[in-house]
Amino acid sequence: MPKTYQDIVYPSAAAAALVHNLVTNRMPFPANGKNGLLIYGPSGTGKSTLAQLLVQDIPAARGGRPVFAVTHPIITTGGNNASLLQSMRKKAETLFVMEDLNLFILHEVDLLGNAAMRSMKSVMDMPCTMFVMTTNDISAVENGVKSRSHLIDMTAPPAAQWLNQARQHLATLGVTKPVADQELLPLIAGCHGDVREILTQLQMLALDLAA
Ligand SMILES: Nc1ncnc2c1ncn2[C@@H]1O[C@H](COP(=O)(O)OP(=O)(O)O)[C@@H](O)[C@H]1O
Ligand SMILES: [Mg+2]
Repeated sequence: MPKTYQDIVYPSAAAAALVHNLVTNRMPFPANGKNGLLIYGPSGTGKSTLAQLLVQDIPAARGGRPVFAVTHPIITTGGNNASLLQSMRKKAETLFVMEDLNLFILHEVDLLGNAAMRSMKSVMDMPCTMFVMTTNDISAVENGVKSRSHLIDMTAPPAAQWLNQARQHLATLGVTKPVADQELLPLIAGCHGDVREILTQLQMLALDLAA
């Protein structure tokens, strides 16, 4: 299980570098009117996991600042989200101390619907806010929300990117025999980046090898 954003398997070196630069503030964030991180890709590639890790790693990488970040996990559902946006606005208005930052996590942000999605833009414009969002349908996310966000690509990595972690995982499953790349690569590729499926397939392979 990944413990920091650096343990995540990214689809490209560029995606990994962008996340690293944003976390460490080498790429100033929030800045230039962007205070959102929009993590997009298909199911099971680790978007929600990365969102959770970023909330923990961003303050840690900056010497504990923002010190008083208040995290609001928002449950997005289909339907009318007007009241949800209203409650976000209320929360964003509440600052306890000067350094305070209201940090919102919205999983599956595409579920917001058109009206709420349009209100998101004005909520994102509120001062001292940061947004970490995930979606598996980036086409359903309003352009204004995208414009206020850094887009973090979590599409399926090439199978080779998973080889190291797959081997480490097999070791934790008690597999001591070496497993060839030619055996692992098609197994991983067939999972289309879905980590839950990769872990399941590795478990099956471990059973086969133990038999
Ligand atoms: N290196 C890794 N990168 C991403 N996810 C990983 C990794 N190793 C294990 N996982 C696990 O895979 C699962 C991915 O699920 P999740 O983050 O919910 O994906 P998504 O939100 O994209 O559907 C989580 O249980 C996560 O802990
Ligand atoms: Mg998710």
